[in-house]
Amino acid sequence: MADDSKAPSSSQDNRKNVAVLSLPDGRELEFPVEHDTIGDAISVNVKGAFAKAKVFFSSPGYADLSAARSQLTYIDGDNGILLYRGYPIEQLANSATFMEVCYLILNGELPNKEQLTSFEKEVVKRMPLHDQMMSTLHSLPRSTHPMATMSILTTSLSAYLGDKIDTKTKEGRYEIALQLIAKSATIGAIAKRYSLGEAIVNPSDRLNYVDNFLRMTFANAAGEYDKNDVLSRAMDRNLILHAEHEQNASTSTVRLAGSSGTSPFASIAAGIATLWGPSHGGANEAVLEMLKKIGTVDKIPEFIALVKDKGADTRLMGFGHRVYKNFDPRAKIIKEACDEVLGQLGVVNPLLAVAKELERIALEDPYFKEKKLYPNVDFYSGIILSAMGYETKMFTPIFAVGRMVGWIAQSNEQANEAAPIGRPRQLYTGQVQRNVIPIEQRGPNGDSARATLAATSAAKPANTAG
Ligand code: CMC
Repeated sequence: MADDSKAPSSSQDNRKNVAVLSLPDGRELEFPVEHDTIGDAISVNVKGAFAKAKVFFSSPGYADLSAARSQLTYIDGDNGILLYRGYPIEQLANSATFMEVCYLILNGELPNKEQLTSFEKEVVKRMPLHDQMMSTLHSLPRSTHPMATMSILTTSLSAYLGDKIDTKTKEGRYEIALQLIAKSATIGAIAKRYSLGEAIVNPSDRLNYVDNFLRMTFANAAGEYDKNDVLSRAMDRNLILHAEHEQNASTSTVRLAGSSGTSPFASIAAGIATLWGPSHGGANEAVLEMLKKIGTVDKIPEFIALVKDKGADTRLMGFGHRVYKNFDPRAKIIKEACDEVLGQLGVVNPLLAVAKELERIALEDPYFKEKKLYPNVDFYSGIILSAMGYETKMFTPIFAVGRMVGWIAQSNEQANEAAPIGRPRQLYTGQVQRNVIPIEQRGPNGDSARATLAATSAAKPANTAG
């Protein structure tokens, strides 16, 4: 595609706003161009004109597609910058709470004290689940992965709340946001306790959101839990770092599912299902499994050799990112937090030494340098969660609790824009048209050669098929 503005940059006032595509048959297509408010990225708005001209972009993994307009998150992947609503992630992680960040993401501005108190009260009020949901829970085997439990229970919320909230209004969508932020913590905690065969602990209106989550996950059967400031701060910061990350796979899933007009609980459940995968949120679980498998620092070179062997189908989990071609800023914060939290909790985890040495070796290795593979948010997060006392299979559910606000804010943006249904096209690589032949005449492969021949002659002039 030719852009007649040559190299537009955000500092230029006279940026051209048209892109031109010259096609092999001599046609020229013109498209309006929009610019990011920060940085040099542009979005060429093709608005279905390509489909009309029967021209499709092949972009595996949608890597070249700007699929949405959003005011929530800005990422500069080359310089390792992440902003929520314009605020650097480092400042939010150090100076704000998760509830402040939720308010910011949903409303566009940080809350003052009164707004925050009232917001958190409204969220905590909505944490209890409908009693009948426990029957759904008890229909699952204890071995169900907590991510599956979360997805199932989240879909089931549509049965209890679906009819009561008008999703067509802004007020209704805000109510859904509060409900889902609140209930995701309860569902996540229940999924954990159920998988361990522990009695369920209900939320308390005397605790804030994060302490409620910690109590619901760690309390004894009588519901007793001693508040621990180190755990509270560590969990709060973890949730902040995962709160929103523009058009990642799970968010894109939520948007695609939502574009059909389905229940918001169902589209969020689809997002949870996507997050579960090891290339996405499931990487935090996979990192810990990988570190355990490596075991000791001396085994690292052997593992690195395996990763570099194409035939071995092994990746360095917690490394690499579609957008960050430099440090993931969240990984830097988590790495620092890791030392701090383990120190404060007095936990010695030998896997931290393995992780640090693995990172050091990988960052010096030409394979990772050339491919611009750096640690991502999942590389160290599992070590912190494990030090806090969480089982490996709870890492991704905790990611989901943090990401809930991002998913909802994205789907609210989509609803406000009245976005059309998501429906990509494809490059067809299958059989040419052919005719069905009677079963008695088919060979072991369905006699595809004869069928193709027949179709080829059928496709020539009309009525020539036998
Ligand atoms: N280990 C070894 N090689 C890698 C890795 C890795 N972790 N990641 C990418 N590569 C190689 C890959 O083999 C390919 O090499 P080549 O060009 O020779 O074929 C090249 O780098 C580009 O990889 P890609 O798969 O085309 O890159 P992508 O942008 O499609 O994938 C990714 C991004 C995150 C899926 C990938 O880097 C990955 O699988 N990382 C490990 C899983 C992980 O940590 N995921 C968490 C992502 S961040 C949090 C989140 O999204 O939830």
